[in-house]
Amino acid sequence: MCGCSEPGWGWGHCAPGPMLLLGLLLFSAPFRLLGEETRLVSLEVIPDHSGPPENLLHIRAVGANSTLHYVWSSLGPPAVVLVATNTPDSLLSVNWSLLLSSEPYGGLVVLPKDSIQFSSAVVFTRLLEFDSTNMSDATAEPPGRPYPPYSLAEFSWDSINNTLDLATLSATFQGRPTHDPTKAFANGSLTFRVQAFSRSGRPTQPPRLLHTADTCQLEVALDGASPRGNHSLFGLEVVTLGPAPDCPTMKEQHSIDDEYAPAVFQLNQLLWGAAPSAFVQWRPVAFSQKHGGRESSLPCQASPLHSTLAYSLPQSPIVRAFFGSQNNFCAFNLTFGASTGPGYWDQNYLSWSMLLGVGTPPVDTLSPLVLGIMVVALGAPWLLLLGGLVILLLHHKRYSKYQSLN
Ligand SMILES: *[C@@H]1O[C@H](CO)[C@@H](O)[C@H](O)[C@H]1NC(C)=O
Ligand SMILES: *[C@@H]1O[C@H](CO)[C@@H](O)[C@H](O)[C@H]1NC(C)=O
Ligand SMILES: *[C@@H]1O[C@H](CO)[C@@H](O)[C@H](O)[C@H]1NC(C)=O
Ligand SMILES: *[C@@H]1O[C@H](CO)[C@@H](O)[C@H](O)[C@H]1NC(C)=O
Ligand SMILES: *[C@@H]1O[C@H](CO)[C@@H](O)[C@H](O)[C@H]1NC(C)=O
Ligand SMILES: *[C@@H]1O[C@H](CO)[C@@H](O)[C@H](O)[C@H]1NC(C)=O
Repeated sequence: MCGCSEPGWGWGHCAPGPMLLLGLLLFSAPFRLLGEETRLVSLEVIPDHSGPPENLLHIRAVGANSTLHYVWSSLGPPAVVLVATNTPDSLLSVNWSLLLSSEPYGGLVVLPKDSIQFSSAVVFTRLLEFDSTNMSDATAEPPGRPYPPYSLAEFSWDSINNTLDLATLSATFQGRPTHDPTKAFANGSLTFRVQAFSRSGRPTQPPRLLHTADTCQLEVALDGASPRGNHSLFGLEVVTLGPAPDCPTMKEQHSIDDEYAPAVFQLNQLLWGAAPSAFVQWRPVAFSQKHGGRESSLPCQASPLHSTLAYSLPQSPIVRAFFGSQNNFCAFNLTFGASTGPGYWDQNYLSWSMLLGVGTPPVDTLSPLVLGIMVVALGAPWLLLLGGLVILLLHHKRYSKYQSLN
């Protein structure tokens, strides 16, 4: 736990302890040497020539000895299947007629099968909305009276073809409810922007999550949809699937108040078993403006994960096509904002980002600026003390010299 008054989150409410500072100082140098690996990344929209256009995006990231396959789709609820293989030559094979059938298992295959080291999936099943009027407890779960959720399986999605950007290795899924009797999405949409990386780095947009070539970033944005109340909080229901019957573990990692993410001291992680496996990572912060900064930041709360039965969830064809009837599903809710402070109501806008990847999650190191300041700040008292000791010793020496003269 954070050990601060505001659980899990705070703008300047708590500061990491001195041991953490020292630990980060000691360990930040070796971590810098990691994450140098680059990958050759390709993005391909896989067409179904026989039917209506469906969005199926294959991101293939090839390294020296491994290939990562991220398959994103808005067929059913938005979902991603992640497959890591131990060869630079593995391929994705799609059988559309199987994929679109009622028994899609086998419709999505990564070959050769024995090269697969790890596979997992994340599905975004529902957009939640809560009425936070009269909610004084910001950490209450749920954070207000729930409105009926929007099922993301019942959204219609624009073609991603026009959004595919090979320069930034990104694509955007943009959708709205198929049936929208209240016209809440008449001027609005929900977008899932997916981006891959060929090397490690950090975007200019907050929350500036550190990425590597082994990760893929997702930015979810709700833009222009009419809320159903004056104090609507939104959320996402997220479902995970992995090899183990246990749910991935939710871990809170503490980072330091760094210039990359001022005053967000926390990094949330979902880890599928021991590394090297997959992880999801995010900062517990969302933004209520497109060019979000500190003023427009909202807390993001995650509920605990618990295993769920497949039949209670909207089915993702790509997940069933790859995993078959395997049903080690776990679900949790993310909610964005609190009843006070900035909110969706400011500009009818909300965005949140996460990283999905394989291996050890990237660890935030201190920026050189902050490292410099800390070295000076932590070093100064020691230098003073050392200086004092030297002066004292010299003084003593001189004094004893005089004494021996006498
Ligand atoms: C790739 O595999 C070769 C041979 O097994 C090994 O020598 C090399 O270090 C590996 N490279 C990486 C980046 O893991
Ligand atoms: C796709 O799957 C169907 C049903 O199993 C099969 O009949 C068909 O030959 C497959 N198509 C390809 C291109 O493999
Ligand atoms: C909020 O509280 C006030 C006073 O207790 C009450 O009149 C009002 O109906 C409540 N509103 C909601 C949405 O619960
Ligand atoms: C959508 O935008 C148009 C033009 O800006 C406006 O006239 C209309 O009222 C808006 N509809 C909703 C439901 O907000
Ligand atoms: C929203 O606020 C307006 C003005 O403050 C008020 O008239 C209206 O009843 C409120 N609507 C709801 C659903 O609380
Ligand atoms: C998420 O929140 C909704 C609305 O409160 C609730 O129906 C659902 O059970 C929650 N899901 C999980 C996994 O906690």
